[in-house]
Amino acid sequence: MNKSPFKASISQIAEQIQPFHVMKILGEAKALEAAGKKIIHMEIGEPDFPSLPCVHEAATQAAALGLTHYTPTLGLPALRDKLSHFYQSFYHADVAADNIMITPGSSSALHLVLTAILNPGDKVLLSDPAYPCNRQFVKLLQGQLIGVPVGHDTQYQLNNELLKTHWQPGIKAVMVASPANPTGTIIEQAELLAMANFLAEKNSYLIVDEIYQGLVYERPAESILAHKNLPDNVIVINSFSKFFSMTGWRLGWCIAPDVLMPVLERLGQNLFLAAPTPSQHGALRVLEADALADLEQRRQTFESRRNTLYHSMREAGFRLNTLPQGAFYLYWDVSEFTDNAENFCSDLLQATGVAITPGRDFGDYQANQHVRLAYTTTQTELTLAVRKIAEFVKTYQAPENS
Ligand SMILES: Cc1ncc(COP(=O)(O)O)c(C=O)c1O
Repeated sequence: MNKSPFKASISQIAEQIQPFHVMKILGEAKALEAAGKKIIHMEIGEPDFPSLPCVHEAATQAAALGLTHYTPTLGLPALRDKLSHFYQSFYHADVAADNIMITPGSSSALHLVLTAILNPGDKVLLSDPAYPCNRQFVKLLQGQLIGVPVGHDTQYQLNNELLKTHWQPGIKAVMVASPANPTGTIIEQAELLAMANFLAEKNSYLIVDEIYQGLVYERPAESILAHKNLPDNVIVINSFSKFFSMTGWRLGWCIAPDVLMPVLERLGQNLFLAAPTPSQHGALRVLEADALADLEQRRQTFESRRNTLYHSMREAGFRLNTLPQGAFYLYWDVSEFTDNAENFCSDLLQATGVAITPGRDFGDYQANQHVRLAYTTTQTELTLAVRKIAEFVKTYQAPENS
């Protein structure tokens, strides 16, 4: 052991940041896999498909041409332009390239945007459950979290009525995701517009995470930015990770009102200088028509998987509250089997090799009664997983109940 007198100190803020509990399940699943057990991975929140070959070619070609230097902080002008055109053709939305900033993943966009608008003590309202990292970003910035419990009666989403009910002075921003993680549910556009208008009157921002847009089923892809009379308080977050199957390329973007763009640029210059250059060249290629057609095929595959998972769960007699309209998640109420979803996930994994995520990662409200299933695996594996889960629950006795 090192005998140095140095005593490491960790910041109080860092101490408050919570881990992603799904990593525990992932660790257990990997250990079982290494020991030879067959695992069905339904815990991971990313497409099982690799990025498209044309993306690899474009990035390799750019690197071969020596295009490996920093880009401007706001991103490659050609990519910002292309995204502006993409908004027109894909979402029927007028978005100026000047209002788009390319970031290292939408994770950076979320962090940057919150840094741009929050003072210590400012309140941020979000649903419970919600994407976990948002809560940690707010804590990092010493903001105050207001979690609004949402259940199946509102499709696990916020709405304008809930905003009005839970409104209190000092709320600087409301964060929503549509479709959402962990539930795959959406907020209808008319509702989102009403929320934006209500918040504009209160001088508060609406941050809309659209990173699962594109992956929507039996409905068109939609952006709040398609509204012609949108107030200036709306910030949109998006990413090349999910619909574009490019998680590892670490590339996202945000779209913000004029007044925020120089602020975001100044923060980006300090926090990361620029998003990865080869990834931006890959992204230029993935926005071409032929690549988008390939991604549409993948969207259809996710839709079939959603249907397979949802219907086989129903056939197995499981109570499912909502049919998810997007993303690749199903949020399942397991209260008839356990009041400890974390133990349930661990026990299920050990007994059957099916890896799913406990609700605890996504908030507090009914977290111990919910689990998230990701349909990021084949139809055959999904059907097999449901069969195994059905067998498992027949005899399941949660340790604390036994
Ligand atoms: C709702 C939501 N927003 C943002 C992210 C961050 O994704 P990325 O940084 O890969 O763009 C995720 C990742 O799972 C997510 O589910």
